Amino acid sequence: MDVILFGPPGAGKGTQAAAVCEALSIPHVSTGDIFRRHLKEGTPLGLLAKSFMDKGELVPDSVVCDIVASRLAEADCQGGALLDGFPRTVAQAEMLYSWLDGQGREIGTVINLQVEGSMLVPRLSGRRTCLGCGATFHVSHNPPKKLGVCDRCSGDVVQRNDDLEETVRLRLYTYERETAPVLAWLKPKGTVYTIDGSKSIAQVQLAILGALGI
Ligand code: AP5
Ligand code: MG
Ligand code: ZN
Repeated sequence: MDVILFGPPGAGKGTQAAAVCEALSIPHVSTGDIFRRHLKEGTPLGLLAKSFMDKGELVPDSVVCDIVASRLAEADCQGGALLDGFPRTVAQAEMLYSWLDGQGREIGTVINLQVEGSMLVPRLSGRRTCLGCGATFHVSHNPPKKLGVCDRCSGDVVQRNDDLEETVRLRLYTYERETAPVLAWLKPKGTVYTIDGSKSIAQVQLAILGALGI
């Protein structure tokens, strides 16, 4: 089953992804993580993506859609995948649904994590991310056991470039303008569960797994 994890920057998509993927035995496909991996490896795609990410803007649809289609065609995604951070524009949603349709696949569920705007800036500006495995922490809500060291892989835990407060505000603006309208497009297509993402990490996880019938 393919599942979309939808919500604004800082809603908790990345935080909740691991539990969902484990419960459904599907891989986590995060377009943001794919771009950051390319950037780490210094590929042309990584550098292109960085020029948009650092400004809080979206990477162009044509680039993103090709990457997602080739990722979803890989062997480990044949039983479905958890899409985190995609689709982010109506054009991406149209491409995704028509591509899946062509493969005889469909989106089973959309989980919409709803969090009040005033909570998002403190969540993102306090976030710290592992350079090794991408795990996310928060300076006060969810700190790593040892300062600057990942609990999961012992990698370096740092602040993402686009988590500086000024860039966070630009990302939230981009979300309202380009991504929020995707929800209205998704609703008539199937099951959209809206979940209160402002509760604790454990409570949100329970609500998501409940919505997925796990
Ligand atoms: P991406 O990496 O997808 O970033 P994003 O959507 O802005 O979302 P975030 O990763 O910032 O938030 P999240 O919901 O995962 O929150 P998290 O769980 O980490 O994209 C980055 C950039 O790449 C984009 O700006 C764009 O340029 C480009 N891009 C990516 N996809 C694209 C696409 N499809 N098209 C075009 N461009 C694209 O949680 C945040 C913090 O809050 C953490 O510190 C966490 O510990 C804390 N937290 C989480 N849940 C809770 C809770 N319940 N209570 C308290 N704290 C919590
Ligand atoms: Mg994320
Ligand atoms: Zn790590």
